[in-house]
Amino acid sequence: MSRLEPIGVLGAGWVGLVTAACFAELGHEVCVRDIDEARIAALEAGGTGIYEPGLAELLERNRERLRFTLDVREAFAAARSVFVCVGTPPTHSGDADLSAVWRVLDELEPGSDGLTLVMKSTVPVGTGEKVRIELDSRGRADVGYVSNPEFLAEGTAVADFQRPDRVVIGSFGPGPGDAIATLYEGLGVPILRTDVATAEMIKYASNAFLATKISFINEIANVCEETGADVSVVARGMGLDPRIGPHFLRAGLGFGGSCFPKDVAALKQLAGNSGYHFQLLTAVIEVNELQKRRVVAKLAKHLGSLRGKTVTLLGLAFKPNTNDMREASSLVLASRLLAEGAHVRGWDPVALGEARELLQGVELHEDLLAALEGADAAVIVTEWDAVRAFPYHEAGRVMRSAVLIDGRNVLDPDEARAARFFYESVGRP
Ligand SMILES: NC(=O)c1ccc[n+]([C@@H]2O[C@H](COP(=O)([O-])OP(=O)(O)OC[C@H]3O[C@@H](n4cnc5c(N)ncnc54)[C@H](O)[C@@H]3O)[C@@H](O)[C@H]2O)c1
Repeated sequence: MSRLEPIGVLGAGWVGLVTAACFAELGHEVCVRDIDEARIAALEAGGTGIYEPGLAELLERNRERLRFTLDVREAFAAARSVFVCVGTPPTHSGDADLSAVWRVLDELEPGSDGLTLVMKSTVPVGTGEKVRIELDSRGRADVGYVSNPEFLAEGTAVADFQRPDRVVIGSFGPGPGDAIATLYEGLGVPILRTDVATAEMIKYASNAFLATKISFINEIANVCEETGADVSVVARGMGLDPRIGPHFLRAGLGFGGSCFPKDVAALKQLAGNSGYHFQLLTAVIEVNELQKRRVVAKLAKHLGSLRGKTVTLLGLAFKPNTNDMREASSLVLASRLLAEGAHVRGWDPVALGEARELLQGVELHEDLLAALEGADAAVIVTEWDAVRAFPYHEAGRVMRSAVLIDGRNVLDPDEARAARFFYESVGRP
């Protein structure tokens, strides 16, 4: 198989677009298919449809090697490797919704010889085996199946794809896995070859472990608040131990986004469906839920009843450098504050379009100081650079009362207090 073979990508979201742009950068012709007309139209017009640093430039640079289409036949036409990057959102039961994955099987064209489906979407352990059985029962034993879970993080997705810590390739036999491993040779990174179920589990276990680290440090932070210790120094002290490592030990409002909440819930359900009660993950999820709500008590400590008070949420996206609002902490916070009778405002540099649909009843602002004008308190929800450089002087002048709850521990408590703010963060005295 030639290294520069044409590639198909199904799904033009974060994973699909980054996969497509990065393989095009490596020299492949890539055809990206989505079912969302608006998304394909935006891409054809030279846009991205999503906010991801570096992606627009990469798409532009490789425009002649990239094609966007609504027609699934085009994606399968020339490609022997088709990357499945469709969404697998949570269902009401917490299991992953695999309907988009099954739809891909329904859309397989007859006679696409030598084709391999490469599953980049996060799917429950056992999905690959079910897909294999289904393909065989439809007389498509010729179609190969490889699990190739994606570990990129929004905000740094392009760099994560181009310089990953590892590429995991799970296959039922060596053949199709070898071909997919060849595609990644240009990246020069470690490639871990496994069976399909193990590859699927590596993805879930990795996300669940990272989420566990976050909930763990948040519980330590909550105990720090009771005892007077400083969680940021505790985390530094812990992280210097190489067995622990410094990453994902930042206390705050907890995790959100399109991956951690759904993947932790899906792994918990997967275990439960197989008869195993995953107690640790139950606690990880509960701690994460409660962590966002602690902000309300902190506000009430300074403001008393929140009824009629104006509270500004600084940052609405689930993390900086993305416009993704899926499972963002701001959604829970805004709902809780509205339920307390507060008047809620929101500011974000890139996610206002998404926020408009999701945050009904919240007054949205493009300008940070306009969002703070007359506010009784501000809550740092997403650590955008503009928030890290909090304009104490101007904010102090326009706010009704200078109450600042730093939900991401990004400001210096001494500086905030020197600027005469009533400042609270998470787990720091
Ligand atoms: N976003 C991340 O940070 C991230 C990281 C690693 C893994 N993942 C996983 O990758 C998968 C995709 O995530 P995402 O964030 O890119 O999702 P997304 O929702 O941004 O994009 C999915 C896209 O797939 C399209 N789609 C649905 N059915 C389709 C079909 N039959 N053919 C073609 N397109 C179809 C949707 O219209 C949508 O545009 C998920 O399983 C997710 O868990 C996401």
